[in-house]
Amino acid sequence: MKPSSDPSRTYKWATLVCAVVAVGFLFAAAVRENISADWRRYQANYKKILLAKATDDTARRTAERFPIEIRQVTVPTLGAVDRCVSCHNGIDDPRMASEANPYKTHPKGLLKIHPVERFGCTVCHQGQGAALNFQEAKAEDYFWDYPLLPASLTEATCNSCHDPDALPPGAAAKLVRGKKLYFEKGCASCHKLDGKGGSLGPALDNVGLKTKHQFMRAQLQGSQTVWNWMAEHFRDPAKIVPASLMPAPALTELDTQALTVYMLSLRQREIPSEYLARDKIEEKYARLHPGEPDGKTLYQQYCASCHDTGLFTRWDKKFGRFVPGIRNSAFLKTEEDECLLETVREGRPGTRMPGWGPKAGGLTEKELSAVLGYLRTSAPFQDLPPAPERGSAERGKVLFNHECAGCHGTDGKGLIAPALANPVFQKAASDAFIAQTIRLGRENTPMPAFGRAGISEQEIGDVLAYLRQWEPKGPPAQRAGR
Ligand code: HEC
Ligand code: HEC
Ligand code: HEC
Ligand code: HEC
Ligand code: HEC
Ligand code: HEC
Repeated sequence: MKPSSDPSRTYKWATLVCAVVAVGFLFAAAVRENISADWRRYQANYKKILLAKATDDTARRTAERFPIEIRQVTVPTLGAVDRCVSCHNGIDDPRMASEANPYKTHPKGLLKIHPVERFGCTVCHQGQGAALNFQEAKAEDYFWDYPLLPASLTEATCNSCHDPDALPPGAAAKLVRGKKLYFEKGCASCHKLDGKGGSLGPALDNVGLKTKHQFMRAQLQGSQTVWNWMAEHFRDPAKIVPASLMPAPALTELDTQALTVYMLSLRQREIPSEYLARDKIEEKYARLHPGEPDGKTLYQQYCASCHDTGLFTRWDKKFGRFVPGIRNSAFLKTEEDECLLETVREGRPGTRMPGWGPKAGGLTEKELSAVLGYLRTSAPFQDLPPAPERGSAERGKVLFNHECAGCHGTDGKGLIAPALANPVFQKAASDAFIAQTIRLGRENTPMPAFGRAGISEQEIGDVLAYLRQWEPKGPPAQRAGR
């Protein structure tokens, strides 16, 4: 038998080779961490820059003594252990203004007002503070909840400690613009912030704290970050979230960025009170003591994204139904203030029309009256002729199914036109209002004038009787005109 055919020899060799490779890796890792680590290279370079900039002996000596070591800022109250300054050595040295990153002085003098020892970096920038190479500090492709924000979006974090509107002009221009756009574009019609707003979309109070794993990303192309999700979702909501009911807001690229900054800024973070700027505390106080509401502004913020100008009924493709023109004089002439208010307060449950009363949409009674005042600028209520006596519900049903159900749905469930069996509609609408709407229809809407089409008062009475079968059971409402 030849010695080389001993089978254990192969294994011995294999073990030896593996051991050498493993030791080799350990050695390479040690070299990488201790000798060729990025931060060492940057600090060595920084030392050279310091030496080149030294104009006298003292400066030269200080530069020569610049130690190559891991530097970190620990701020326990903010939960920060930030080693960013291991590479960004010149960050608070004004002499480094014209150097490239990572040596460059911080822009906008921000570290003069927020000293590095007290604030660290990640409270504004996010990112993995303890990392010692830039990829890991950025942490975009790692399991890290809040990766480094691109410099162009970093203003998002100012909102945690400041009232953006109280900052000096230009200090956080995108954030301020994004906040303004949020209200101008009627986002609050469908989203709640601080308990105020519509209910079609999710509340946004903490949307800036959501991590990328909490968003639907199957359709998201490009960088898998929250900010890219936001921007792409604004460009076309239904592409990112299939069948989304959110309309794409008309935005320029810059405004898309501003709105993204504002979205990322929405976070109720635990910030110790000694870190809150005075303006933030004043903002919180001002929110508890709002000034006089302005109806037109409120309409723009909370109603216009569905009702548009309100002068015309509009067809909503996504909802698949008409959204009534609530500033149309034909409507306002027939609707009493109290009925209108009731509808706005409670909404129309089961339809896209949300409630706006203090408990539902967060508008105060004062604000509701201001909105009503604005609607009323189109037309005052005019006394209605009385409704005919309620007649035969049976005959009414036949007529309704023939003349009305095509738009209003059988059993009053609503189709393309309002659900007439809706409990809030039943509670708010008087017989006189319904009868007059049937007689005159609504100018500029698909609701036909049945009076002109030859429907008799008796037939209206029959339809009324049928409609009122849908009235919710309970104590009868006491209302004039019924
Ligand atoms: C008060 C908040 C705040 C703190 C604290 C802060 N930064 Fe910044 N930083 C910003 C903002 C905002 C920008 C973007 C400024 C701009 O370009 O509009 C920025 C920009 C930068 C840039 C990009 C500079 C450029 O022009 O390319 C670097 C690098 C940087 N910061 C590093 C740091 C480091 C390192 C720390 C910690 C020592 C730090 N920052 C602390 C808010 C802050
Ligand atoms: C290993 C060294 C290193 C560490 C650690 C490091 N950085 Fe940097 N940083 C760099 C370098 C190098 C650049 C420039 C690279 C580039 O432009 O691609 C840079 C660029 C930046 C920029 C500008 C990016 C932009 O969008 O223009 C910011 C902001 C920044 N760093 C912040 C931080 C913060 C905050 C930390 C700590 C969480 C940190 N860095 C940790 C080396 C580092
Ligand atoms: C962790 C909290 C915190 C964050 C985040 C923060 N600041 Fe500040 N900032 C402060 C505090 C505290 C002061 C001191 C002001 C005071 O006492 O009212 C201050 C002061 C300032 C001042 C000077 C005072 C003033 O209001 O004119 C400016 C400007 C400023 N910050 C801008 C910013 C910008 C821009 C950002 C976002 C990039 C930012 N800050 C992020 C806490 C913060
Ligand atoms: C007509 C109602 C409507 C309007 C107006 C509207 N949204 Fe939405 N929004 C929705 C609905 C519904 C969703 C949930 C489906 C989706 O993610 O697309 C949503 C989702 C969102 C999300 C994702 C939230 C999360 O936690 O997943 C953000 C962010 C958002 N909207 C911001 C805005 C902004 C900013 C505006 C104003 C420009 C706006 N929306 C206007 C209905 C609306
Ligand atoms: C061609 C479609 C169509 C037909 C047919 C129709 N309606 Fe309407 N109706 C509408 C639309 C659309 C509205 C909402 C008007 C608006 O936008 O202001 C409406 C509104 C109403 C309202 C007021 C609802 C509210 O929320 O204020 C009543 C009451 C009403 N219709 C009753 C009837 C009755 C009864 C019939 C049958 C005799 C009928 N409609 C037939 C389309 C129709
Ligand atoms: C998310 C979309 C949406 C928003 C936001 C919205 N509405 Fe509506 N509204 C509707 C729809 C849809 C209807 C029709 C409901 C139905 O089909 O029964 C409606 C119906 C109404 C009606 C009943 C009209 C009638 O013909 O009887 C009034 C009044 C009204 N809305 C007022 C308001 C006011 C005031 C606001 C703002 C504070 C507002 N709505 C915000 C979608 C909306």
